[in-house]
Amino acid sequence: MKNSYSNIFTFNKKILKKTIKNLSLGKVIGLPTETVYGLGGNAYSKKSIRKIFKLKGRPKTNPLIIHYYNVNYAMEDVVLNEYFKKLYKKFCPGPITFILKKKKNSKVHSSARAGLNTVGVRFPKHKIARSILKKINFPLAMPSANKSTNVSPVSSKDVYEEFKKKISLILDGGKCKIGIESTVVDLTNNPKILRPGIINKSKIEKALKLKINNTNNSKKNRSPGMMKKHYSPGIPVLINQNKSDGKSAFIYLGSRYKNKKNFFSLSKNSNLDKAASNLYKIFRIIKKNGYKKIQISKIPNIGSGIAINDRIRRASKS
Ligand code: TXA
Ligand code: MG
Repeated sequence: MKNSYSNIFTFNKKILKKTIKNLSLGKVIGLPTETVYGLGGNAYSKKSIRKIFKLKGRPKTNPLIIHYYNVNYAMEDVVLNEYFKKLYKKFCPGPITFILKKKKNSKVHSSARAGLNTVGVRFPKHKIARSILKKINFPLAMPSANKSTNVSPVSSKDVYEEFKKKISLILDGGKCKIGIESTVVDLTNNPKILRPGIINKSKIEKALKLKINNTNNSKKNRSPGMMKKHYSPGIPVLINQNKSDGKSAFIYLGSRYKNKKNFFSLSKNSNLDKAASNLYKIFRIIKKNGYKKIQISKIPNIGSGIAINDRIRRASKS
């Protein structure tokens, strides 16, 4: 069934067939994952990867995450290690990406890896992503389905807003549950968190039974794609604000300013997972409402607050 947007489709058996056909032909499509919507294409195909980079306007130096149905497929392309096995068992399928050494005969196209000898692998949990991955005989290279530096999309309409008719197929899977991108953890050496997410450092430490001592923001520890300017809603963002200036959109936690104009709560009961899941949605609403600036109150730097602070700090660098 077609929605009112002619390239947004409700997922069913017929559309699954169409999806598989499109992907096998090297086309690139929009699809939901539990974190954010992705722009997916055949990770083994140069043509597909080129399309993804072009659509996003993404620097060629920024590698893509490769999505697999399960570890049996991934092990053809990457070298597994003990850290990986523990984290996979505990968190997968789920919102975590592992940086692993590539196998010599890995089929992941070099441009998807940005020429690195490592591959970012992820096993998404979303039903739609999984039913596609199960049926195709290649993994999906899949960045978030937004133009480079923009905010990631959390609904099929957000994807439409980013690419309009430039992609022929966008699968609708409702609003993404998690709402921010996966945790990225480098396992090629001592584990390092390159991008914080809902699966946070202490959860990973607990699963691995070791301490991860990385200073989150040192340049050395950053993913190639973790440029300072990123996740930008396209208007100035000010963080750690205590007082509304009376005209900007003011984002906060809790219900103190309930029903007051210009105030947007990330979570009424200050739940940080919920807050993370609402962040990008609220950015887009604010932008659509024509505000010229966003103020954000201080967010506690614990649990998912760490991931929220990472994203809003970058948004404020625009
Ligand atoms: O939740 C997610 O991870 C979403 C959904 C669609 O799966 N995808 C996503 O992809 O956020 P993207 O391209 O927006 O972000 C991928 C991040 C970038 O910061 C990139 O630099 C990093 O992962 N990355 C990918 N491969 C890497 C590698 N081999 N080494 C280091 N970092 C890598
Ligand atoms: Mg992205």
